Amino acid sequence: MTRQIGIIGHPLKHSISPAFQQAALDFYKLDIAYKVWDVERVEWAVEQLRQPETLGANVTVPYKESIIPFLDGLAPQAWEIGAVNTVVKEGEGKGLSADCINVSIISKDKSPHRRLCGYNTDASGFMRALREEAAFEPRGKIVALLGAGGVARAVGFALVHAGVNSLIVFNRTAQRSRQLVEALHSKVRGKQTISARSWRQDVMRRALPQVDLIVNCTTLGMKHGPGVGKSPISAELIPAGAMVYDLVYNPPVTPLIREAQKAGARALGGLSMLVYQGADAFELWTGRKAPLDIMFEAARKALE
Ligand SMILES: NC(=O)c1ccc[n+]([C@@H]2O[C@H](COP(=O)([O-])OP(=O)(O)OC[C@H]3O[C@@H](n4cnc5c(N)ncnc54)[C@H](OP(=O)(O)O)[C@@H]3O)[C@@H](O)[C@H]2O)c1
Repeated sequence: MTRQIGIIGHPLKHSISPAFQQAALDFYKLDIAYKVWDVERVEWAVEQLRQPETLGANVTVPYKESIIPFLDGLAPQAWEIGAVNTVVKEGEGKGLSADCINVSIISKDKSPHRRLCGYNTDASGFMRALREEAAFEPRGKIVALLGAGGVARAVGFALVHAGVNSLIVFNRTAQRSRQLVEALHSKVRGKQTISARSWRQDVMRRALPQVDLIVNCTTLGMKHGPGVGKSPISAELIPAGAMVYDLVYNPPVTPLIREAQKAGARALGGLSMLVYQGADAFELWTGRKAPLDIMFEAARKALE
C-alpha cells in the first residue's frame, strides 16, 4: 500500500512544498506520495489524516490554528505558539514527542485511533536559517518584527527564547501586535524588553535606526498575493549595519531585499527557512535525515 502525507491549506496552487518533499521521499525510495489537500473546511483534510495509510501532514494558511481542536495532542512548542504546521501520527517516524500535550478533551473524535500530534517547525526552521544562512546570532540583539500573524508568533517566541535584548513588533492591526506582545511577556527573562508599535512611517523612523535585525513576517512582496511588488519599508528606514530577513520566499529577490540592498544592509530571503521547516517535518514523519541538498535543489527549481 502506498502511504501518504499531505499539505493542508487553501489555496495551495502556488505551494512548493509538494515539490521538495516528494523529492526527499523519492531520494530514499519510500513508497509515500505527498498529496495536496486544498480544502475549504479543515475537517475534510482531518478525515484524510485519520486514514490508515496517512503518516502525517503539513498545515499552512489558513488552518495552522483552526486544526488544533481536531488533533489529540500538541508538542510543547506548538502549544506555546498556538499554531501547528506539521502533524504526525502516533507510531510513525520519530513517533510522538514524549511530552505531546494532550488536547483530546477538545478533540471531536472519541473512537479508538492512532493519535495525531501537532508540531510547529516554523520556529526551528527560522532559527536554523538565521544562524546558518545569515550567520546571525540573535542573543543580545535589538530586533524589529514586521507583522503579527501566524508566522510572526513562531518567530517572536523563537527570538525571545534565543535571548534577544529587545523585540519591537510593528503591525498594521494594533490589536494583533498587542496580543502577540502580551503572549510573549510570559517568556521574558532578565532585562529583555518587548513592545508593540504603530505601523506608521514616523514611528518606524524613530525606532529602526537602533535595530540589528529586521524580520518581515507580513505578506507584502509575496508573488500571487495582494501585496505583490510592495515592500513593507523603504531603504531610507533600513540601517546599513542591520540584517534584513524577509520570510517571503517567492520571488527569491523580494521588493524588501532590493530596498535592503539599496540601504547597504545584508539580506536573506525566506527559501532557506521554508526548506528547513520542511526538513524538520520530514524527519518527524520518516525518522530519516532530511536530504537537504535534494530539497533545496527541488525547491529552487519549483520557483523558476
Ligand atoms: N519562509 C517560510 O518558511 C515561511 C513560513 C511561513 C510563512 N511565510 C511567509 O510569511 C508571510 C506571513 O505568513 P503568515 O502565515 O503569518 O500570514 P498571516 O497570519 O495571514 O499574517 C499576515 C501578516 O501580514 C500583514 N499584512 C498583510 N497585508 C498587509 C498590508 N497591506 N500592510 C501591512 N501589513 C500587512 C498582516 O497584518 P494585519 O494583522 O494588520 O492583517 C499580518 O501581520 C507570508 O508571506 C508567508 O508566505 C514564510
